[in-house]
Amino acid sequence: MKLVDCVSEVEQQLQHAKLYFGHGTDNARDEAAWLVMAASGINVGTFDGDWTQELSVQQLAETEKLVLKRIHSGQPLAYILNSAWFAETEFYIDERAIVPRSHIGEWIPECFEPWLDPTGVQDVLDLCTGGGCIAVALALVLNQARFDAVDISTDALAVAAINARRHAVSDRIRLIQSDLFTALPDHRYDLILCNPPYVADQLMDELPLEYSHEPEIAFSGGSDGLTIIRQVLAESRAHLTQRGLLVVEAGSAALSVESAWPTVPFTWLMSANGESVVFVLSADELDAFGQRFV
Ligand SMILES: C[S@@+](CC[C@H](N)C(=O)[O-])C[C@H]1O[C@@H](n2cnc3c(N)ncnc32)[C@H](O)[C@@H]1O
Repeated sequence: MKLVDCVSEVEQQLQHAKLYFGHGTDNARDEAAWLVMAASGINVGTFDGDWTQELSVQQLAETEKLVLKRIHSGQPLAYILNSAWFAETEFYIDERAIVPRSHIGEWIPECFEPWLDPTGVQDVLDLCTGGGCIAVALALVLNQARFDAVDISTDALAVAAINARRHAVSDRIRLIQSDLFTALPDHRYDLILCNPPYVADQLMDELPLEYSHEPEIAFSGGSDGLTIIRQVLAESRAHLTQRGLLVVEAGSAALSVESAWPTVPFTWLMSANGESVVFVLSADELDAFGQRFV
């Protein structure tokens, strides 16, 4: 069977099983292609584009095994493969940390220009770092900058350590276990990034099966989804340099952010899929609003 035909067949199977696609892909076709290539030992990063190549009996058998595992376990494919792609980079991942998929990754290749001048960035804080994907991907672009990557979960930090080592940036990324800013050194950063838990209580029960394999602490954002975002807004200014920038993904809490602080001049960045769930605020804009976030 040709690769392209196998992908179509798997796409049908995944579609029929009514799985959720949102952990590295957003549709059955892309996930089918990822699955078949992984099962067949075809490297996505170096794929030559030959969709007409014939798959061997063994490649087809491996594909079948993987399809059945994905359908029957409900695990995100990234966990089954221990592999996820984020900001054009491959990461190790397992159930100790959420599967990387933050929209923040879309602005990593350009280092958040024009909201930030990347040439002036020396110190970066990645709050709620999880498996470290944001810190590591940005460290590969800003190859002189130093990073503090913070998470409350030692499990997640263990995954982040694997990724920092894998991409040879361990010497520039300090992993810190902390409840947000609590255990941080007295230090100011040029850039603070945060993809926090932001799912409101009433939405937690509606999350698809795939999410039940991920750490609950990565999602739960309290009654309005804003528990962590509120703290980040209130405390970031004290940790930013004069020309610093705060970047936060608010996800499903984006509307709550707007209605909680209607006079704050959030700049919402538009993702490739048309969603605007990531905001940026400069240190000046945070100054103007003062301490009124709490
Ligand atoms: C949505 S995940 C983001 C992970 C990673 N940055 C990413 O984009 O894939 C949120 C992370 O916040 C961490 N977290 C939750 N509450 C925290 C807190 N109070 N302080 C620090 N980290 C926290 C969770 O352990 C989880 O790893």
